[in-house]
Amino acid sequence: MNSRRVIPVIGLQWGDEGKGKGVARIASKLGSQDLIVRFQGGNNAGHTIWHGGQCYVFHLIPSGVFGRAQIHLGAGMVINPAALEKEARMIPKGVSFLSRMSVSPHAIITLPTHLLLDSVSEKIRGRQKIGSTGKGISPSYTDLVLRRALRVGDITQKDFKKKYCALREEHKKTLKIQFGYKTNDKKLKKEEKDFFKGIKFLKSIPVIQSATMVKKALLGNHQVIAEGAQGALLDIRFGHYPFVTSSHTIASGVGTGLGLPPSIIGKSIGIFKAYTTKVGEGPFPTELGGEKSATWCRDKKITEEKKKFPSPDPNAKDEFEQGIALRALGGEIGATTGRLRRTGWLDIPLLRYAISMNDANKLILAKLDVLNGFKKIKVCTSYIIAGKETTEIPFDMSQLKIKPRYKIFPGWEGKLSDYSPILPKEAVNYIRYIEQALGVKIIYVGTGPEEHHVMERFW
Ligand code: GDP
Ligand code: IMO
Ligand code: MG
Repeated sequence: MNSRRVIPVIGLQWGDEGKGKGVARIASKLGSQDLIVRFQGGNNAGHTIWHGGQCYVFHLIPSGVFGRAQIHLGAGMVINPAALEKEARMIPKGVSFLSRMSVSPHAIITLPTHLLLDSVSEKIRGRQKIGSTGKGISPSYTDLVLRRALRVGDITQKDFKKKYCALREEHKKTLKIQFGYKTNDKKLKKEEKDFFKGIKFLKSIPVIQSATMVKKALLGNHQVIAEGAQGALLDIRFGHYPFVTSSHTIASGVGTGLGLPPSIIGKSIGIFKAYTTKVGEGPFPTELGGEKSATWCRDKKITEEKKKFPSPDPNAKDEFEQGIALRALGGEIGATTGRLRRTGWLDIPLLRYAISMNDANKLILAKLDVLNGFKKIKVCTSYIIAGKETTEIPFDMSQLKIKPRYKIFPGWEGKLSDYSPILPKEAVNYIRYIEQALGVKIIYVGTGPEEHHVMERFW
């Protein structure tokens, strides 16, 4: 094999860092033999791409749809067939992507009852809930570990329907016995109709082993991009457990997610925002407005927020209102669930932790433009825990009182686009500080949602 390696593109925070835009930008430069592959997660992901003035959100299909590269749904994924079929239908007719798409036989299938198990178990947890996306991700991966999952390779087998019914009945039993939940069979029948429509669609996609796809591309000296879903801090083992997703979101997940040896996985490209957001529960040291924000985001809908805060002030005295302004300016509403994303300042210790786990040697700083209008921008440089300053990430953040220490930067006047093609000196100082603190080069910064809204490195 030549020296080409798989390049993981990984979110370095709690997801929604702008991976969709980042991967689409890379994809626009790839050729027809290059490859973009998802290696974990399912339709809990929501990857936004602006293309031709239109906004698209992809949940399962890799973010290379509008390019020329091959796209592959890898072995480590969980696939909801109905959601996949629906997503494929949303892609404009003129875009030929089906002839470029393949799927691994090892990818796990999400059943309608997995969604029920997800939502019912979250309900039972009450205040201890994880805040899952409700897409059945955890129960689908659980079935893999229980060694009873249905996989894409099973759908062409004669006994698939029988296996499906057996697993559905197991799920119904669990719902009844463990959670006291009686399944609504009429509703389930309707969902099954969509499920089998999805299975039919899935059957039309070529089934190829992920490792075969990747090795063929690398042998031909073509590029292979592994598109991460979620973010490093949501990794099942190294994220803030239990407030995590159910797969390995870090670069090591590329190996187990595609059946590849570590030797052919290269250094990563890490993507992060100029601030931090999080959807769902769990610790968030730099959250603007702290617990008040967490509770607000848990309970409120965007319509209620807009009504109460029609024009929130990014320079308000109250940090809670600043957090609302950041959410409004960044459009920080869940791309998959429509939930309010919690907002906060950039957290250097967490980013260092994520960079180290992923061996990121290039960084993309997204959404710098969202900080237009902030007179002061804070960056967390360390934590005070039990009176001691540290930059270490504790084993269980949720059990500790963490006080972030901040460095404060002056904001810039006007919009970043006013300075095109340069950046205001305050923004350059902010970027330079982040680079120096992280010890990794930022290859470009995002200055708006569309593919061309980027500023290549010049500083
Ligand atoms: P992903 O899950 O990492 O792909 O990110 P999401 O798509 O869930 O969320 C990122 C959001 O930020 C989307 O609405 C993007 O359109 C938007 N976005 C990405 N990069 C930029 C940027 O540089 N500036 C602005 N203003 N928006 C951006
Ligand atoms: P992308 O790929 C942000 C979060 C959920 C919840 C936790 C577990 O768009 O960055 P799950 O449904 O996976 O069991 O939920 O993980 N979560 C995400 N947060 N972006 C995502 O994906 C996410 N996928 C899952 O909010 O806290
Ligand atoms: Mg997202």
